[in-house]
Amino acid sequence: MSLFGSEIRERLGKEVEDKMDTGQDWFVTHSSRADYQKAFDNVLHGRLIHDSILARTMRSQQAFAMDLMGYGTALDMPMTGGLAVSLSDKRLVTQQQRDSQKNIGHISGDVLKSTTWVEIEEWIKKNNTQDQGFHLIMCRPIRGIRHLTDRPEVHSVLLQRAWNVLSPDRGVLLTQTHTADSPYLPQWIDILNATPGIHADFHIPDHNQEEIYDTLPTLKLTRLPDAPEKLPQRI
Ligand SMILES: C[S@@+](CC[C@H](N)C(=O)[O-])C[C@H]1O[C@@H](n2cnc3c(N)ncnc32)[C@H](O)[C@@H]1O
Repeated sequence: MSLFGSEIRERLGKEVEDKMDTGQDWFVTHSSRADYQKAFDNVLHGRLIHDSILARTMRSQQAFAMDLMGYGTALDMPMTGGLAVSLSDKRLVTQQQRDSQKNIGHISGDVLKSTTWVEIEEWIKKNNTQDQGFHLIMCRPIRGIRHLTDRPEVHSVLLQRAWNVLSPDRGVLLTQTHTADSPYLPQWIDILNATPGIHADFHIPDHNQEEIYDTLPTLKLTRLPDAPEKLPQRI
């Protein structure tokens, strides 16, 4: 099942059909937490990428993180559990074993399909019975962004899906966005920051925007308890 109605699915054509996890095209895979830290440095302003997880762990609270469009190698942090979501499971057996000891799951699925999000929702509900959300979501597709179409309305749906599984207890969402979103970002961030319960920040690189060099726009959203369930619309 696709995330979108038949009309938009028709317009998207091939883009929502099954895709290959074409490792040779990605250039970068299995990145470390330090690589993710670097990729989001411009919106982290010197903070550690897993600050929201560390803060909870230090208070002995449960903490969950998700690596969306990745194989979970960056989920190297002290937490209760985590989830990696990618087109297929390209983890080494040693990583799979380590992950299962650390309560890190993996879902093979296309983020453009509803079934993938249903699986994500089920995983987090089953594992985090307290606030049923992730306290950190990281999405660094780099070249994988090409699988997501250049349609800003599709990216809005995906962001809302990620927002739905972000904890309202100061959950942090860090994501790279398509360059097609750049014209909308500054105004939308103002709207988000004017909304109670949402803190938003973004960065648009002013140099080479070719995604293989990992210079995509980045976005950071923090969700507080009084935040709305639906993200405000972009103009
Ligand atoms: C360039 S790799 C980046 C992997 C990882 N985030 C990293 O930084 O090392 C692209 C990733 O995006 C995933 N991906 C691409 N299109 C996807 C889609 N439509 N749904 C889910 N995952 C997707 C691939 O499975 C792959 O793991």
